[in-house]
Amino acid sequence: MTNEFTGKKVLVAGGTGGIGKAIAEAFLVGGARVFVQGRNLQKLEKLISELDVKYKGNISGTSSNLLIAEDFSKLLDAANNFLDGIDVLVSAIGSGKFKKTGLLTQEEWSQVMDQNFYSTALLLNTAAPFLEKGLDSNVVVMGSIAGIERLNAPVGYTVAKAALHAYVRAMSAELASRKIRVNIIHPGNIYFEGGRWEEIQDEDPAGTKNYIESVVPQRRFGSPEDVAQAVLALASPKSSFITGASLEVDGGQSVSF
Ligand SMILES: NC(=O)c1ccc[n+]([C@@H]2O[C@H](COP(=O)([O-])OP(=O)(O)OC[C@H]3O[C@@H](n4cnc5c(N)ncnc54)[C@H](OP(=O)(O)O)[C@@H]3O)[C@@H](O)[C@H]2O)c1
Repeated sequence: MTNEFTGKKVLVAGGTGGIGKAIAEAFLVGGARVFVQGRNLQKLEKLISELDVKYKGNISGTSSNLLIAEDFSKLLDAANNFLDGIDVLVSAIGSGKFKKTGLLTQEEWSQVMDQNFYSTALLLNTAAPFLEKGLDSNVVVMGSIAGIERLNAPVGYTVAKAALHAYVRAMSAELASRKIRVNIIHPGNIYFEGGRWEEIQDEDPAGTKNYIESVVPQRRFGSPEDVAQAVLALASPKSSFITGASLEVDGGQSVSF
């Protein structure tokens, strides 16, 4: 896919995370100019200085907390200043680290929905006017297989990801007339250093190995790069007739759902 994205302008929200970082780098390899967003400024600066060594001048970013209304327009303005338009928006914002029970207070529901649903929905709302000016503009949202079937994931996270799935399908129809495609990827168990699965594995190595081998037909974790390649496939102009689609990147785990 090298250079397939030359001249493309890509905003990766949640681009400082394990999956988001791999997505940002895959677009850079493909020739795109990339703007990343994350919350933690130190993490963001480290990522940009690392990537700028290889992809000189094609990477920039800003830190923002997408639970704060004003931060959405600040982010889009900063991205537009660097990119001069937006062709592809990826949202890899979210976290499955939450209490397991679904008996949540109103405040807890707000927290989990803000982080895993509203952040992406409000981002798309703010980005749509920029996207509709692009060529084959499209959005790729990070869902989770937890949002399509019951797993041992926190109930609030499950509900937020299910809402994202429904949102993407509904918005693909609404935004088709504005020539914006919208698709969703549902990752399975994605392992990387510093990620949630490293934490779980450290707590119970034998149980984790047993779990992965029993529920994933490929009997392995996925990598952030596995997800990144799926994002590029959906964002590619070759996929210009694909909208409202959901793609599981899970080593076959969801085939038994
Ligand atoms: N890892 C998996 O196994 C897996 C499986 C299925 C789905 N997913 C989904 O894939 C996406 C990426 O996951 P990941 O494992 O790469 O997670 P991660 O490493 O924790 O990255 C999450 C990213 O979202 C940003 N973020 C979180 N809350 C935010 C907020 N309120 N405002 C702005 N930015 C915020 C984080 O910024 P900071 O780093 O600065 O906090 C980071 O860039 C998430 O949507 C996750 O639910 C992951």
